[in-house]
Amino acid sequence: MANLEGGGINNNLDDEEKLLTEPSGIHHHHQQIISLRNVVKFFLLFIGITLSSLLLYHSSNNNPLQFFPNHSYKHTPSFASDSNYVNTNGSAAGNLLHGNNSRAANVSKDKKQKSKLEEVLEKAAMGDKTVIITTLNAAWTEPNSIFDVFLKSFRVGNQTTSLLKHVLVACLDQTAYSRCMEKKQVHCYALTTKDVDFSGEAHFMSDDYLKMMWRRIDFLRNVLEMGYNFIFTDADILWFRQPFAHFYPDADFQIACDHYWFNSTNLDNSPNGGFNYVKSNERTIQFYKFWYKAREAYPGKHDQDVLNMIKYNPFIKDIGLKIRFLDTAFFGGFCEPSKDLNLVCTMHANCCIGIGNKMHDLTMALDDWEKYMALNGDEKMSRPQTWTVPRICG
Ligand SMILES: *[C@@H]1O[C@H](CO)[C@@H](O)[C@H](O)[C@H]1NC(C)=O
Ligand SMILES: *[C@@H]1O[C@H](CO)[C@@H](O)[C@H](O)[C@H]1NC(C)=O
Ligand SMILES: *[C@@H]1O[C@H](CO)[C@@H](O)[C@H](O)[C@H]1NC(C)=O
Ligand SMILES: *[C@@H]1O[C@H](CO)[C@@H](O)[C@H](O)[C@H]1NC(C)=O
Ligand SMILES: *[C@@H]1O[C@H](CO)[C@@H](O)[C@H](O)[C@H]1NC(C)=O
Ligand SMILES: *[C@@H]1O[C@H](CO)[C@@H](O)[C@H](O)[C@H]1NC(C)=O
Repeated sequence: MANLEGGGINNNLDDEEKLLTEPSGIHHHHQQIISLRNVVKFFLLFIGITLSSLLLYHSSNNNPLQFFPNHSYKHTPSFASDSNYVNTNGSAAGNLLHGNNSRAANVSKDKKQKSKLEEVLEKAAMGDKTVIITTLNAAWTEPNSIFDVFLKSFRVGNQTTSLLKHVLVACLDQTAYSRCMEKKQVHCYALTTKDVDFSGEAHFMSDDYLKMMWRRIDFLRNVLEMGYNFIFTDADILWFRQPFAHFYPDADFQIACDHYWFNSTNLDNSPNGGFNYVKSNERTIQFYKFWYKAREAYPGKHDQDVLNMIKYNPFIKDIGLKIRFLDTAFFGGFCEPSKDLNLVCTMHANCCIGIGNKMHDLTMALDDWEKYMALNGDEKMSRPQTWTVPRICG
């Protein structure tokens, strides 16, 4: 992408230079000799300068993606060439995407995978085709680890137990899958990736960590293509109340924040990819493809960093995606905890690295909640009830 951008700008600078050093137009203007040729030249000069300054303006954003929507998205029907790509529309579209008959075997393999995912989505979905999705690997499903705390929060939350049957756990390895299957309340899906072992603790920003994060974006795009809306939640998020009342009915993509700047439409908010509610439609599908593709332009970055860079991209406006940022008063985290337990829906162990640290503070947060729930109504409301966390995190 960097090459693309560089090429564009240089070409245009050349053009501009040519136009600016071309004297005849200006002279002729002063001499008031107006010919059709000169009019054309002026017109070109004007366009040249306008275009160049536009390009320069954009390049000062340092955004290598600026041309990429229309270069890649329009001309490449699908970015998802990985083996797990699932095509909703069966073999006809499959042929279109992959080019004719030779891939028949793969299409049928895709179909098998698709039906498994569709089956589990169907079982997990609420009436309006919304599922709650999380991803887990072996390390996070250790006994008495993140997964258990996550599940417990639904049981001690206010009217959240009934949400458990809508939770779909995408398991990144065999161990996570078996541990998931032991929990009867939730739905498990084996999200396999050939030749990659995601079972260990993926240390923040390691190669495996990045692969895992990107695999998840690609997977979520699949879910959208199958017509399901989702609330994606990291498993290090405690659920204390139902979130639905705090979602924006008109938004396509709404996302929690590390820090919230008191304006749900302001792109300067710092989104956190660990919690988002996404509706399935043409705009969100295009957006997830774009997001996933963007990883190539920003090697070594994780999905959230890339989101922060692409959120200003004109592509978002072009496709008409409506983004909203969720208030940390309801969807808080250790970066910026919700201030009032009377309002909180979720608590995320963000701004916290390492399973041990997360477990420590999440356990304390669960204790805080249980103490709060044990108060009687008057006590709950008598003064703002707050957290004792973050302690190690934050
Ligand atoms: C990209 O394509 C979209 C849709 O085809 C179009 O509306 C938009 O103007 C294009 N953007 C640029 C920068 O060319
Ligand atoms: C099927 O897909 C695999 C990888 O997903 C690829 O290596 C193989 O060449 C494909 N087979 C055909 C016939 O396209
Ligand atoms: C699948 O096909 C149906 C009907 O042929 C069409 O309406 C729909 O947009 C297609 N979906 C995708 C993701 O291509
Ligand atoms: C597939 O390719 C064959 C020849 O390679 C051609 O005859 C046939 O029309 C193609 N089918 C489609 C659906 O493009
Ligand atoms: C729990 O939910 C019910 C029903 O929405 C509500 O009446 C009650 O006040 C809630 N309790 C707390 C502690 O939020
Ligand atoms: C919120 O942010 C948007 C986009 O930056 C801006 O247009 C709007 O004026 C802001 N609203 C308030 C109340 O500041």
